[in-house]
Amino acid sequence: MERPLNAMAFTLRPLTEADHAALIDVFDGWWDERPRPKLERLWFRHWGSTSALAVDARGRPAGLVIGFVSPDHPDEAVVRLLAVPAWARRRGVGTALVDHFAGLAIARGAVRIVAGAKPGDPAAIGFLRAMGFVALAPPGSRPSYGVPALLDAGGRGEDLALFERAAGPAQAAEDATSS
Ligand SMILES: CC(C)(COP(=O)(O)OP(=O)(O)OC[C@H]1O[C@@H](n2cnc3c(N)ncnc32)[C@H](O)[C@@H]1OP(=O)(O)O)[C@@H](O)C(=O)NCCC(=O)NCCS
Repeated sequence: MERPLNAMAFTLRPLTEADHAALIDVFDGWWDERPRPKLERLWFRHWGSTSALAVDARGRPAGLVIGFVSPDHPDEAVVRLLAVPAWARRRGVGTALVDHFAGLAIARGAVRIVAGAKPGDPAAIGFLRAMGFVALAPPGSRPSYGVPALLDAGGRGEDLALFERAAGPAQAAEDATSS
């Protein structure tokens, strides 16, 4: 089902396997950090209904959230990738994608959302904090750029900071963490 994002003509729709090729072509400009993540076709095939694509009025892809509800931790929904192209940023697309993903997560029984970021990526971390996410300190994490991080999390020298919020609205997440 499509739904309008805001006064500007964006819509959100589920991701399909057929979107993969088109997104591969444009994705380079959507990610500031290098190396940029690989867009795995597998995600599009298996997580399409818990993921979403934003498109503008001309049908141009304008943002993407890819995520899933954990089979082993069904109360937990995981954002695997969230990106908005530079031309569409700071217009609420990222917020709408997180809100939409939260709705999908709740509908599937999840109560919290987990997302990862590079500890030294102020844009991603600023965005996650604005969305009500708070940093997690999993066992073995160490401070990095002011946040707890799993050092060399994937074995390729890249550190990972994990963030979490309730699957409900961002304000509720902030209230829950301050009580
Ligand atoms: C991070 C990203 C998804 C934000 O998308 P967006 O559509 O611009 O986000 P929104 O317009 O909904 O921003 C909502 C709020 O998040 C915060 N925010 C967004 N971008 C930010 C930035 N670069 N630095 C600090 N805070 C930021 C702001 O508080 C913003 O509200 P404001 O515009 O009223 O100040 C986008 O910049 C992006 O794709 N970056 C590259 C990939 C990436 O880092 N992904 C995030 C992984 S968690």
